[in-house]
Amino acid sequence: MGNRIYNFSAGPSMLPLEVLNRAAAEMTNYNGSGMSVMEMSHRSKVYDEIITGAEALLRRIMGIPDNYHVLFLQGGASTQFAMVPMNLLKTKADYVVTGSFAKKAWEEAKRYGDIRVAGSSQEEHFSRIPTQSELTLSDDADYLYLCSNNTIYGTAWGYIPETNAPIVADMSSNILSAPVDVTKYGLIFAGAQKNMAPAGLTVVIIREDLVSEPMSFTPTMLAYKTHVKGKSMYNTPPTYPIYIMKLVLEWLESIGGLEGMEKINLKKSAMLYDYLDSSSFYKAVAAKDSRSIMNVTFRTGDEELDAKFVKESVAAGFSNLKGHRETGGMRASIYNAVPVEGVEALVEFMAKFEKENG
Ligand SMILES: Cc1ncc(COP(=O)(O)O)c(C=O)c1O
Repeated sequence: MGNRIYNFSAGPSMLPLEVLNRAAAEMTNYNGSGMSVMEMSHRSKVYDEIITGAEALLRRIMGIPDNYHVLFLQGGASTQFAMVPMNLLKTKADYVVTGSFAKKAWEEAKRYGDIRVAGSSQEEHFSRIPTQSELTLSDDADYLYLCSNNTIYGTAWGYIPETNAPIVADMSSNILSAPVDVTKYGLIFAGAQKNMAPAGLTVVIIREDLVSEPMSFTPTMLAYKTHVKGKSMYNTPPTYPIYIMKLVLEWLESIGGLEGMEKINLKKSAMLYDYLDSSSFYKAVAAKDSRSIMNVTFRTGDEELDAKFVKESVAAGFSNLKGHRETGGMRASIYNAVPVEGVEALVEFMAKFEKENG
C-alpha cells in the first residue's frame, strides 16, 4: 500500500495498485517499442494489439455475444444522454427516473422527441428503485432507458425489467462489478472512470440491429454507425485510458473475472450495510431492496455530526467520504479497486466515531 490512502471517491476513483505499478514500469518504454503508450500512433501495429486485446478481454469477461459491437468513445457518459435518442429514437421511448443522471438523460432525450416517464422515485428522494408493477411501459417504445446504479443516491436495480423494448442501461457506476447478462440489453454504456480506467473513455456495447440511421441533424461523431464502421478509429480514440482498461481487465481476470469480483464486492458492501443496520447512530439512506454494492450512502441524522465525521475521516487518512452536494450525509464508493482492508478500516473508524459521539 505504501503511502497511498483509502480513497472512497465516486469517480474518478481508485485503480488497482498492480495496474498502476505496471503502467509505471511501462511508462517510458512500452513492450520494447521505445516509447510510451501515450506517444504512439493509434494506427501502429503495437497499439493495434492493445486495442484489439482490450476489446477481446472485455468480450470474454462480460460474455458479450458476437452480434454486439463494442465501441471505445469519448465525451463521457453524458454524451450518451444525447447519442442514445439521436440514434435509437424513431417514435417514442420510456425512461425510468431513479436519480440525477437518469433525470439528466431524460431531460436531454426530451429535446429529440416523445419521451415518457415509465417510473420515478423522485418523490421518495430517489431512495429506491420502482418495482416492475410500478412501471408504466408503452407497448411500442423504441427503447426503455434506465440507470443500473445511481451513484449519488446509492441505489441499484436488483432486477431486469420485463419489456418488449430493447433496454438501454447507463452502467457507469457498476459495470464490471458483477456478472451481467448482456443479451438482456440492447445498449449498455459506461463512463470508464469508476471501474474500468481513468476518465476520458466511454464504453458502448450495442446490439447490431440497433445501429441504424440516426436523426438527420446528428453530427457524424455522434452517430453510432460512424464508430461501428471505423472500429472506434474514425478519429483518435482515448489511447491511454484504453491501455489502462486492458490492464484492469487482466487484473480482473486474475482474480476470477466477474464472479470473483462479485464475491469480493458483496463481502465489502455487506460489511458496511451490516454495520449500518446494527447501529442506531447511523442510518443507511437507500431502501434495503434497492441498495448499491458500489456506493453506500449513510448519515447520522444530524448535519453537524455528519460534517464532523467527514472532517475526522480526512484526518484519519480516508478521502472522499462526503456525500454528494444533492444529498448531504456520507457516501463510501467502494468500487472494484477499493481493497477489503479499506472497508475494514472504514468500519473500524465508524465504530470509533459512534462511540465518541453517539
Ligand atoms: C451513473 C452515472 N451516469 C453518468 C455519469 C456522467 O458521466 P460523465 O462524467 O462521464 O459524463 C456519471 C458520473 O458520475 C454517473 O455516475
